[in-house]
Amino acid sequence: MNRKPYIAGNWKMNLDRRAAVALAAALREACQAFTDRDVAVFPPFVYLDEVARTLAGSKVRVGAQNMCDAANGAFTGEVSAAMLLDVGATSVILGHSERRQLFGETDEGIGRKVRTALGAGLDVILCVGETLDERNTQATERVVGRQLTKGLEDLTLDQMAKVTVAYEPVWAIGTGLNATPKQASDVHTYLRGLLAGLFSPKVAQATRIQYGGSVKPENARDLLTSPDVDGALVGGAALKPDSFLAIARFR
Ligand code: 13P
Repeated sequence: MNRKPYIAGNWKMNLDRRAAVALAAALREACQAFTDRDVAVFPPFVYLDEVARTLAGSKVRVGAQNMCDAANGAFTGEVSAAMLLDVGATSVILGHSERRQLFGETDEGIGRKVRTALGAGLDVILCVGETLDERNTQATERVVGRQLTKGLEDLTLDQMAKVTVAYEPVWAIGTGLNATPKQASDVHTYLRGLLAGLFSPKVAQATRIQYGGSVKPENARDLLTSPDVDGALVGGAALKPDSFLAIARFR
């Protein structure tokens, strides 16, 4: 199965309006020639509308970094799937480790968000990843396995066509300490095996698994050409056109 590489920029809580639009405009031009890879950006909520308009009709997709699991109602401070679609987002990152660790998100809650997002017609990037403690105590497979299983609970085979998994070891995020290509590959292969059991071998072969955690222009090629690695979810290096594009052009 030839999976199309998917390179996504998670802007997290960075940039201002001007910088967000300028970055989007730079990517719009530079990505026009891409045919053999997918590219997406995930700006903060408040810039989604303008970034989506800047990128309308381009090769770069736009998504959100989180959303509410409810459709609408009295949920102060939350944003719904319909609102994201309304402003031009087509995708959403769910279960990022910063949401899990800093904002108390649970596997069950993330699973609900995944079902809501797919039900509304959004694509999903589901993040999984172990902490350093968990890696050091040989708990990586147990942890990412649980996160994957709960995050994808009750999905149909068809819905899985709209899901990307991102393996982001917590110890590699924002630390400059990326997983080695072998460490990434090993977990990706494990996750793909789980997908075969949870859904089907066909779904497992078709589902893209991104690596995230200190991806930089210098390490992108080695990571992204490793077995079972189908792209990257990029944080810090996604905030500048040059570094993000160097990663997107990994080969
Ligand atoms: P960094 O690339 O800054 O390590 O962040 C990775 C990440 O968390 C992307 O979602």
